[in-house]
Amino acid sequence: MSSKKPSNKSPKNLAATPTAQTLNKRKILVTCALPYANGSIHLGHLLEHIQTDIWVRFQRMRGHETYFVCADDAHGTPIMLKAQEMGVTPEDMIAGVREEHMQDFNDFLISFDNYHSTHSEENQAFASEIYNRLHAKGHIKTRVISQLYDEEKGMFLPDRFIKGTCPKCKAEDQNGDSCDVCGATYSPTEVINPRSVVSGSTPVMRDSEHYFFDLPAFEDMLKEWIHSGTLQSETANKLNEWFEQGLNQWDISRDAPYFGFEIPNAPGKYFYVWLDAPIGYMGSFKNLCDKQNIDFDSFWNKDSDAELYHFIGKDILYFHGLFWPAMLDGADYRKPTAVNVHGFVTVNGAKMSKSKGTFIKGRTYLEHLNPEYLRYYYAAKLTHRIDDLDLNLEDFAQRVNSDLVGKVVNIASRCASFITKRFDGMLSSTIDDQTLADEVMQAGDSIASHYENREFSRAMREIMALADKVNEYIAVKEPWQLIKDESKQAEVQAICSLGINLFRTLMIYLKPVLPKLAESTESFLNDELLWQGHQVLLTDHKINKFKALLQRVDMDKINAMVDASKENLKATDSVKQEKSKADTNIAVIEPIADEIQFEDFAKIDLRIVKIVNAEHVEKANKLLRLELDLGGETRQVFAGIKSAYNPEELIGKHTVMVANLAPRKMRFGMSEGMVLAAGPGGKDLWILNPDDGAQPGMRVK
Ligand code: MSP
Ligand code: ZN
Repeated sequence: MSSKKPSNKSPKNLAATPTAQTLNKRKILVTCALPYANGSIHLGHLLEHIQTDIWVRFQRMRGHETYFVCADDAHGTPIMLKAQEMGVTPEDMIAGVREEHMQDFNDFLISFDNYHSTHSEENQAFASEIYNRLHAKGHIKTRVISQLYDEEKGMFLPDRFIKGTCPKCKAEDQNGDSCDVCGATYSPTEVINPRSVVSGSTPVMRDSEHYFFDLPAFEDMLKEWIHSGTLQSETANKLNEWFEQGLNQWDISRDAPYFGFEIPNAPGKYFYVWLDAPIGYMGSFKNLCDKQNIDFDSFWNKDSDAELYHFIGKDILYFHGLFWPAMLDGADYRKPTAVNVHGFVTVNGAKMSKSKGTFIKGRTYLEHLNPEYLRYYYAAKLTHRIDDLDLNLEDFAQRVNSDLVGKVVNIASRCASFITKRFDGMLSSTIDDQTLADEVMQAGDSIASHYENREFSRAMREIMALADKVNEYIAVKEPWQLIKDESKQAEVQAICSLGINLFRTLMIYLKPVLPKLAESTESFLNDELLWQGHQVLLTDHKINKFKALLQRVDMDKINAMVDASKENLKATDSVKQEKSKADTNIAVIEPIADEIQFEDFAKIDLRIVKIVNAEHVEKANKLLRLELDLGGETRQVFAGIKSAYNPEELIGKHTVMVANLAPRKMRFGMSEGMVLAAGPGGKDLWILNPDDGAQPGMRVK
């Protein structure tokens, strides 16, 4: 991080040093992109807010002075027009949306220190000041440009408010800047028979003076800044491409009527929404500083020793990687320490879609599911890179159930009742297995560096591997057997106490991701989960009665959430939808089946079969192609067990199959039956070993 003072070690080193938190208290200001004030928060937005919140909670736990601010992005033409459409003032509309957004974020446990609005006094003051400073230094230019104007509505039209015939392929009803039919991009003035989306009238060309920010003047500074560790390498490369194409002056003004701030000394001219949007980070922080007596300048001055991080999606990199640092530099403010860019959320392998019910609003999710499931799932998949992240709803349920319920919480539920019932809630004074305890405790530094570097998936993997070890330890020790032997009581207490203790350590590691579960754990353990607490164990300590900490994810609820998200799904659409699911082999989540009678069960022909061949299926995420020997007859079956097995490991093993299932044509070929495997899912799926005494062809019932 070379834009920082030399006294600041890089965060990487800090995370790896256990004592750093006390020696070197950092000052950190963190932001997420400001959501537009004309739509609801959806699961895509939430990736960003959850990613940032985990990072912020981690920094706070490590003892750093950390502030996390955000705001609604309230200006611009779409917001102005939407308010008109609703028959309310833009001020009233954005106030209502802000309330809704704040409630959503609160319920997803996003721990903002402040959530403001760009339509605020503070923001207006900073926008004007930054503009004035840029102007004084000659970085603002003016020039007359010609644009389409709606005479009926009395306003200039942004590209997306113009429709017409494509100048290239002549397709009708295309957007003002691009054609969905032939893919051409063009200027709105080239559109044939243009019309205004706002009034339907034919727009005319009209001249107007615009204000421009002289971005090219900052090229050298930007090139240096970008390569000083502020950006991921992928992002820096993207910006390089933009340099190669050449930087342009940036049009920062819009004519009235516009919902925004008027430009100083330029009556009737307003700041373009993207000018004051990032300044909204400062506005929100200033608002917080005034409420809490924080020194604003020490975070934003050119020589600030504080760190400043922006978390954004890849679609708004241009603004944060070029315009924003240039504006800050030109106005004599410090630049960001880093801009952390994430990819886009897809659901079940495809772009979020309203008709498929995968465009899921945060509120709809909350009406059906626990927010911590989503926090964990995103954490389990997030890296520091900008790849898109797929929320596969089936994998989501499996992952949460297998990791959180089956591994972590399972440790506590296996051990707690013995401690409560037999030992009056007291943890023992001895440590049963110091080596295991040391291993779990010492993992803290490596987990911390994964959090610091935004490698959350690595952190989760490491934590779950430790949870596996602890479960294994309990399984081997079998306290439920020992308890029957009067002479082994102290041993049982020591085993279960270690189990509870290591559950506690794992929950310390998980606290940034699962703050509510951590809170319930704190009341169960009578202990506050602090990061440095990972280095100690609780002995002779009284715990409380164990209550179920986390429910399993229920598929019915996921299905209900998807149903609730489907908008105006017509009967004809459902056919299309089925088809697309089959084509892409995206798991279809069926509701849990109704109860069946014995006669129904008796109809199923279950057979032991031998897997004689197994191979990958090209383009299938989950499927393996199996050849099964039924004791003479060979069948081909496609089985969704790729997550658990490499094909080579399966050859020679036995499994149980439904032999009389009607053959089904799949995209990859015919599937002639179904194989059964047991386990919580993911990589834990069991198939019989050849030495289990099973013979191909044997009937199971
Ligand atoms: N208002 C601007 C940001 C101004 S920041 C000074 C904006 N708003 S937005 O509501 O469209 O997006 C807010 C953030 O959500 C952006 O970082 C954007 O990348 C992110 N996401 C929106 N949809 C997303 C997904 N489907 N997946 C992941 N992030 C996505 O842009
Ligand atoms: Zn076209």
